[in-house]
Amino acid sequence: MQRGKFITFEGGEGAGKSTQAKHLAERLEGIGIPTIVTREPGGTPVGEDVRALILKDRPQDPVTELLLFAAARAEHMTAVIRPALDEGTWVISDRFIDSTRVYQGKLYGLEPEFITMLERYTVAPDYPNLTLILDLPADEGMARAETRGTLSRYDAQRIETHELLRQGFLEIAERNSERCVLIDGHLPVASVETAVWQAVKAHLLAEVS
Ligand SMILES: Nc1ncnc2c1ncn2[C@@H]1O[C@H](COP(=O)(O)OP(=O)(O)OP(=O)(O)O)[C@@H](O)[C@H]1O
Ligand SMILES: [Mg+2]
Repeated sequence: MQRGKFITFEGGEGAGKSTQAKHLAERLEGIGIPTIVTREPGGTPVGEDVRALILKDRPQDPVTELLLFAAARAEHMTAVIRPALDEGTWVISDRFIDSTRVYQGKLYGLEPEFITMLERYTVAPDYPNLTLILDLPADEGMARAETRGTLSRYDAQRIETHELLRQGFLEIAERNSERCVLIDGHLPVASVETAVWQAVKAHLLAEVS
């Protein structure tokens, strides 16, 4: 049996990650590929507790936050992602390593080597096969999140911070072009969906069919 593929959605607040993750899963299921959608932080009971903890009492030290996310990720890989991939199920994660690289790395200034080392102990060798980075200007993403009424602590950050994060995602897309596809999140939902599907077909479906 062929191992499942691992797809991640990344990008700023309100860029459309959750919307597209759901649509893509439905599309894959529609062509007979068993698919699960999961998210970070979260994805397991331990991970959801870590998510709630961080949103409630934000750690003062960014290292605390990084290590909590890393702990949740180790659990996520072992309890959910790896077993699914092993049984041939495709996994879509709403945020993953690139969010850590951008938030804890670029925004909070933690060393990339430290972050990469944690990835080696939590994720390797099961890095995502494909990462779809949804790009949207910061003010638009925040406006969307606000309309939806889910202003989390990340939403409350200033527009400049969001622009910094956006630049971080753009840099990742550029530096990891074999794994990442940059998609304009500004387009209507259906157009973004088409772009996502084209990327999945080009990168992953060619090799399974
Ligand atoms: N392409 C789009 N055009 C217009 N509105 C969109 C588009 N994609 C998503 N939306 C709307 O924008 C809001 C945010 O979308 P969604 O929850 O998918 O983003 P997200 O990236 O998961 O956000 P968050 O980072 O807050 O989880 C939702 O109300 C959604 O319906
Ligand atoms: Mg979301």
